[in-house]
Amino acid sequence: MKLGVVILAAGQGTRMKSDLPKVLHPLADRPLLGHVIATARQLEAARIAVVYGHGGDRVPRAFADSDLIWVEQAEQLGTGHAVQQAMPAMSDMDQVLVLYGDVPLTSAETLRGLMGAAEGGSLALLTVDLDDPHGYGRIIRDDADGRVLRIVEQKDASAAELAIREINTGILVASRERLDSWLGALENTNAQGEYYLTDIVAMAVAEGVSVQSTQPGDRFEVMGVNDRRQLSQLERRYQYLAADRLMRQGVALRDPARFDLRGTLTAGQDVEIDVNVLIEGDVRLGSNVRIGPNTVIRNSRIGDDVEIFANCVIEDAQVGDGGRIGPFSRLRPQTELADQVHVGNFVEIKKSTVAHGSKINHLAYVGDTSIGKAVNIGAGTITCNYDGANKFRTVIGDDVFIGSDTQLVAPVEVGAGATVGAGSTITRDVPENALALSRVKQANIGGWERPRKKRQE
Ligand code: UD1
Ligand code: CA
Repeated sequence: MKLGVVILAAGQGTRMKSDLPKVLHPLADRPLLGHVIATARQLEAARIAVVYGHGGDRVPRAFADSDLIWVEQAEQLGTGHAVQQAMPAMSDMDQVLVLYGDVPLTSAETLRGLMGAAEGGSLALLTVDLDDPHGYGRIIRDDADGRVLRIVEQKDASAAELAIREINTGILVASRERLDSWLGALENTNAQGEYYLTDIVAMAVAEGVSVQSTQPGDRFEVMGVNDRRQLSQLERRYQYLAADRLMRQGVALRDPARFDLRGTLTAGQDVEIDVNVLIEGDVRLGSNVRIGPNTVIRNSRIGDDVEIFANCVIEDAQVGDGGRIGPFSRLRPQTELADQVHVGNFVEIKKSTVAHGSKINHLAYVGDTSIGKAVNIGAGTITCNYDGANKFRTVIGDDVFIGSDTQLVAPVEVGAGATVGAGSTITRDVPENALALSRVKQANIGGWERPRKKRQE
């Protein structure tokens, strides 16, 4: 059974009040359409075609996936017309599943159930019962045996039909061959003058093809995004599910409502995450990791037994086992900390390696630097890595002690075991085991009178 998926994404999304095409609006940092494509992939679809229109090329250009087929629907003449545009791309498929680029949370499990209902050639519809069905197509069933007979759109429905609470989600599975012929027979003689995909249901019934229906696990799975309020509701739902999954895997979240995952998190045992932590991209945490409140971690690897205190920002970095980071530390891209490294408050590190057991505890900037083992970097140390045009490296050997408020003007190398006196500006290499001092010698001048303010007449 070859499954083809057609994703409708041509609509404008006027109510978003945005220049960005609706399906490109992010949910957990990924475009709405990206979620739908990911679900189609989970189903092992042999082909995925996306029907786009509004926003033009911006939609296809937002996706790098080379195997997607992009079908332009220049004029939006209705959902039936939209699916028809994609049918040439489905010519060698057995079954076709129709999904929507603005319905991001449908689970693969629900769709597998729907495909099961389509087995043996049935047309399978995903439906749901709503307290307020206003605006949706209603499922009309036979009074006697409950068989689905047709779908009627809100604008075409009678008062009795409008009272029906079972609605069409729009998601359906049909045999490719039958779908082809039904779509060819659609007409647009209805209240909206559109080619309705929903009209294929009555056609199937007329041909004696059975129409089956299944319902999703929960209604969020079939909710579409039309405005920013709905987008935020689905974001919260997504985050609730992500937090729930992590807690089941053993991650301790102090408050699942104040945790956000915008990517993937893998975590070892006994990981504790405090409130307002944001995880982005691909983040891997070892075991016994504690993350304090208000911390952002993006595309980073954190070892075992690491404590990250409050208010840190960590991006494209690696922290070894036993590290202690923060509060208020910033680890920027290409920071690699070996095991047992301590980084304290108001320390920024970029494109640098720090070897085992070294400490940078207060108020420092370390950029383009390699720091050896058991080094102590004093408070207020700055690597001056930039001359206004080019970047240069600083190399600090093992067991070096850098006194407070030191500037290391790169390129410069401090040999192993060397000591730099506090307040030094180091512009030349320091040999191993030497003491380097560059500050002016202290002079004490007695009875010094401080300058006074001049009186303004
Ligand atoms: C459609 C269904 C309705 C169902 C509802 C669920 C039809 C005729 N009606 O109604 O039964 O209850 O969805 O939300 O199918 N699209 C295109 N090209 C088009 C038209 C639409 O790509 O020419 C896309 C839109 O971008 C959107 C989706 O299809 O993502 C649904 O279109 P929309 O106009 O919102 O359908 P509804 O009228 O709400
Ligand atoms: Ca509509």
